[in-house]
Amino acid sequence: MNLSASSPVILAEPIAPSTRLNNLIRTIEQDNHCSPQRIRQHILDAGLSAQDLQAWSDFKHATIHSYGRKAVYESRYLEVMVMSWDPGDFSAIHDHGHAQWGAVQCFGEAEHSIYVLDGDVLRTVAIEPCHANAVHAVNPELIHQMGNPGESSFLSLHIYGRQEPADFITGDAQIFELFEGCKQLTNGGAFFCLPEEQIVGRRSGLRGDRATTLRHHHQLRDRMQRILAEQEKDGQPGQSALKTKLDQLQIQINFLSSY
Ligand SMILES: [Fe+2]
Repeated sequence: MNLSASSPVILAEPIAPSTRLNNLIRTIEQDNHCSPQRIRQHILDAGLSAQDLQAWSDFKHATIHSYGRKAVYESRYLEVMVMSWDPGDFSAIHDHGHAQWGAVQCFGEAEHSIYVLDGDVLRTVAIEPCHANAVHAVNPELIHQMGNPGESSFLSLHIYGRQEPADFITGDAQIFELFEGCKQLTNGGAFFCLPEEQIVGRRSGLRGDRATTLRHHHQLRDRMQRILAEQEKDGQPGQSALKTKLDQLQIQINFLSSY
């Protein structure tokens, strides 16, 4: 990685990374031949534990966020994030924007789903367990989703980077929104029901095969129901637009389940 023109590093939280995490970040910054597999190996070599990430945990995060998401370290070449997964949390289906390489380490039993775009049709390639401490390489073309189907919360570490500088390493990440039938572009989290102000663009023309669409819609419905339930618990009236969208979503689920 060429750091000669690097801007000052931004520590997104006023917390010093643990020695092991700090050493990992320095090792990656000094690697001039970064690739998904090399980052994966650097993470394995670092021997991190969940304790190294604890300062960035965000369990019981806001329901409008599909999972907890905190930045550890950001520069124009490297982005290090910690995600917090409560039971039932699932990211939306997404890619990683401008990232050229990356890797993810889970510290609990996660579910990892991989997709492929066949023309304008999104298809599921695999839905597989991601066991605790496993590290997955992230290729620039990867379309995937992570989630917590279990009953225990856990953290995960996400590292993404580029050889050339960029304002947002994972900027313009695409969320594959099968209910809207488009790819939503965002510079933030890969959340279901992304607020309009977090959508920086849209690319139309997206469909899913039946199984992929049904699974997406069930997960979207779950998140919408959670958001509405929280609003009602807090004494806020449920958003009528969200309720209307939920009704329309249920009609699509019923139709897709009928054949
Ligand atoms: Fe991802």
